[in-house]
Amino acid sequence: MVRENFIIAIDGFSSCGKSTVAKSIAKKLNFVFVDSGAMYRAVTLYFLRNKISFTDSEAINSALENIHIDFIPNTEKTQILLNGEDISDEIRQMEVSEKVSEVSAIKEVRRAMVAQQQQLGARRDIVMDGRDIGTTVFPDADLKLFMTADPMVRANRRYTELMAKGERVTLEEIIENLAHRDNIDSTREESPLRQAEDAIVLDNSNLTQQQQLDFVLNLYNQRK
Ligand code: DC
Repeated sequence: MVRENFIIAIDGFSSCGKSTVAKSIAKKLNFVFVDSGAMYRAVTLYFLRNKISFTDSEAINSALENIHIDFIPNTEKTQILLNGEDISDEIRQMEVSEKVSEVSAIKEVRRAMVAQQQQLGARRDIVMDGRDIGTTVFPDADLKLFMTADPMVRANRRYTELMAKGERVTLEEIIENLAHRDNIDSTREESPLRQAEDAIVLDNSNLTQQQQLDFVLNLYNQRK
């Protein structure tokens, strides 16, 4: 079957600016934007709130049946709802960030999220960012990007973001959290973070947002 919608997959390490690029492309091209990391964060929040053990498959499976995630596109920012509740801010807190890599390495969690992500991209033009979008979720995506940035640039970006939200964290804690997540994300058994063979690398350490957008739009125009 020939797919008619256009799929842009953006993968890369944490805090490389994937969502920022994805959002601006979605706005420019009128695509649906899906932040797949937010889905793993929502599951993590649910597990923490409901004290679901990360090693209890039965509890995990029944929890997954009770988790419903929705995205509400807004003019300001996309809201993410967990069973109807807006949890957009709560999922960015350190408590969730510290556990999300563990939760997203759970086989049952990945299978459930990948299935939902594939459904979201079944018919619509979509830009989705994550770790395994170009390799597992949409191996036949029309355009695949792999984003990287200097580790210190990434840590400083996340630090500025969290400080602006009033979170009390140190730069050292962030550096540690990013290194820890990079390690789990790229060494886990189930769809680890890796660059798809046909992905194009975008290192944005020294690029403005406009330059990144132009880079992607240029590729899109060549392939549409
Ligand atoms: O992009 P982010 O930092 O919000 O992602 C949060 C976590 O979710 C990250 O540590 C890895 C995981 N993740 C994943 O395993 N697969 C995805 N497609 C997206 C995110």
